[in-house]
Amino acid sequence: MARILLTGATGLIGGAVLHQALDREDDVTWVCLVRCGNVEQGRQRVAARLERFTDPFTAQRLARKIEIVPGDFTRADLDMDPRLDACTHVLHLAADTSWWGGERVFRTNHDGTLALARRAQSMAGLQRFLHVGTAMICGADAPSLVEETAYPAAEARHIVGYTESKAATETSLAAQFPDLPIVVARPSIVVGHATLGAAPSSSILWVLRAADALRMLPCSPESCVDIVPADWVAETLVALMTKPDLKHDLYHLSAGAAGRTRWADVIAAFEDAEPSDGVRAFRQFDLDRDHTRLRKRFAEVFGLDSASKRAMLRATRAYYAFCALNLTFANDRLVEEGIPQAPSLASYLPVCLANSAAIVEQFVDDMEMFAPASAAPASSPNLPLAATA
Ligand SMILES: NC(=O)c1ccc[n+]([C@@H]2O[C@H](COP(=O)([O-])OP(=O)(O)OC[C@H]3O[C@@H](n4cnc5c(N)ncnc54)[C@H](OP(=O)(O)O)[C@@H]3O)[C@@H](O)[C@H]2O)c1
Repeated sequence: MARILLTGATGLIGGAVLHQALDREDDVTWVCLVRCGNVEQGRQRVAARLERFTDPFTAQRLARKIEIVPGDFTRADLDMDPRLDACTHVLHLAADTSWWGGERVFRTNHDGTLALARRAQSMAGLQRFLHVGTAMICGADAPSLVEETAYPAAEARHIVGYTESKAATETSLAAQFPDLPIVVARPSIVVGHATLGAAPSSSILWVLRAADALRMLPCSPESCVDIVPADWVAETLVALMTKPDLKHDLYHLSAGAAGRTRWADVIAAFEDAEPSDGVRAFRQFDLDRDHTRLRKRFAEVFGLDSASKRAMLRATRAYYAFCALNLTFANDRLVEEGIPQAPSLASYLPVCLANSAAIVEQFVDDMEMFAPASAAPASSPNLPLAATA
């Protein structure tokens, strides 16, 4: 009789987890810690996320199967709700994923996770605390094939504060909670859904589409990106959560050397999916030196006539910095556990493109991630709930 405490149920991966898990006939109870004014409001927030995966009726039916505990994980150590005490597992997905959120991101991701871990110490029957980090904690100077155990590393050079906060969290969890059954899962880059395409989220998909529209790459077409779909990540997390014995306590959730995608394959997939745009001639450019070239091309293709387009240019530049790293995250440990290989991006990109909105619209959906440190996120717990819905 598993009782799983889930944080981040209203986010992309949390929604994907619930969408799969709640339809199973098993004896698992999902307890979701959700920021909301009351239980019904929390349930409707989860249902709204589930509606991205299914029809409204099914979303409501699934949302009725969960227990909602209104709350903020960053204050979980002060939350004495007895429904938390009986949890046997914790799946900790919630995070502030903003790239430029400064100190706030560190407070949420690092300090908040430690607060949740302190709360977990009083769950007498706790069997597993699955903490979701990010493979990108390796920073900008990592070797092209990244092994799990090489990170977190004090000398890693982080491109954004978000990855630094996730690295520090792993270090502190290991140092301060040796008594907890902690397992760390680090997804690589999550894009789309293998069967529902862009419907659950267009996060990061817009970057690939923008690169295609710009016909510009900051790296060779032979370099690789490690991309996995949200449904595969969800399925893998549930497997890591429920498997009685695991060989390790740290896993990349990644495409690995066998499943990574060369940029040349991304380009070919776009050509196949959108043949009317013809054969793509990509230009390679230097991200550090050719700012003007990128800006000029962006203005030609998208225009720079609104604040959201200017924000999109800044975000494109930032994502290009990650693309240029040419990283693959080893997945031998997952394979050893018998987890199936993730579907390749090229195999499901056509589904994503088939139900995609315009590129700029897709970016706007993702824009909160790129808000400057001074701007409170729309989901700030300090805002009245009506403003966050
Ligand atoms: N997506 C990726 O490409 C990717 C890649 C690698 C790792 N990851 C990791 O995977 C996890 C989930 O990512 P995601 O893409 O699903 O994120 P997401 O869509 O941005 O969702 C973030 C979730 O965290 C919740 N949250 C944030 N602060 C909270 C707080 N103080 N109390 C309670 N809940 C809070 C949000 O709740 P509200 O709705 O209330 O804001 C939301 O449910 C994160 O830990 C992320 O670092 C993601």
